[in-house]
Amino acid sequence: MANPQRVIIDVDPGVDDALALLMATASRELEILGVTVVSGNVPLDTGTRNALDVLFLAGAGDVRVFRGADRPLVREPVHTREVHGERGLGSAELLRSDAPAEENAVGFLVDRIAPDVSVIAVGPLTNLAQAERECPGLLARAREIVVMGGAIRAPGNSSPGAEYNFFADPHAAREVVAANANLTLVPLDVTHQVGVPAGAIASLEESERVRFFEQASRVVVSHGKATGGFEGIHLHDPVAVGWALAPELFSTEEFWIDVETTGELTSGQVVVDERRVDEAKQRGVLVRCLTGARVSDFLTLFSNLALGTSWPQGEARSSR
Ligand code: RIB
Ligand code: CA
Repeated sequence: MANPQRVIIDVDPGVDDALALLMATASRELEILGVTVVSGNVPLDTGTRNALDVLFLAGAGDVRVFRGADRPLVREPVHTREVHGERGLGSAELLRSDAPAEENAVGFLVDRIAPDVSVIAVGPLTNLAQAERECPGLLARAREIVVMGGAIRAPGNSSPGAEYNFFADPHAAREVVAANANLTLVPLDVTHQVGVPAGAIASLEESERVRFFEQASRVVVSHGKATGGFEGIHLHDPVAVGWALAPELFSTEEFWIDVETTGELTSGQVVVDERRVDEAKQRGVLVRCLTGARVSDFLTLFSNLALGTSWPQGEARSSR
């Protein structure tokens, strides 16, 4: 087997962040150098607690966890307790890890990002933006910066056009996009193709991990039902891990993009410049964006790694 890919995972756990951690820690193809936590779905303290406890559940209690930014660069914090639950993991109750969290996630990113290290960022991009400000050119040194965030042609989930991670810290998103890194964007355009209906969760073979998946997803499912949305969970953050593990499962396109940071209705929105003008006039940065997924094959990979069970054959694969 080739040498494992060295990664840092930046999270705001968050139910799908937790599922992404279960998936990443189960793969022998990833060497997780550390997990950095950012305020997002839940405040930093809660997210840090969740990261420690999910890693303990995963049998990866030795993975270092670092506390990062407790608020966005500019705007006021906006959490998503209505989706992820009061404590960020739905209705799940986890055993408490006694592992300590370390301080200074930004310092860890500055120290460890290198040409043989990738970052998988699945929360607001505050930690990455602060690291780039502290060390200009840092993100461009990484092997790859994989970001779950944004919406290219898909509607937003936090405003008409803005996806939550970019909505929660638009200034950070703009600075990371502009950092000239080897950036891969995992936007709602692809993650909304990977929705797991509540019925599919209920059909999974019982285990500790499947029990966690079901309990953690309850609030997301009931929020979808209450708002006339999808009665299930979209595996936003696990798709970003899926790209790192099996890029052949996804299709990509390149788009010139920038991130709006102003406007009550537009802040956090990805602005795509599809004009065909000479490069000097093109606005934004040319970025690789995931646009499609082999959903069945991805769900098989996710289920085998994150849940330790095979995805039920013929089970509803996904729906928006
Ligand atoms: O828009 C989806 C993203 O926002 C996911 O990372 C989810 O965890 C929330 O942070
Ligand atoms: Ca997240």
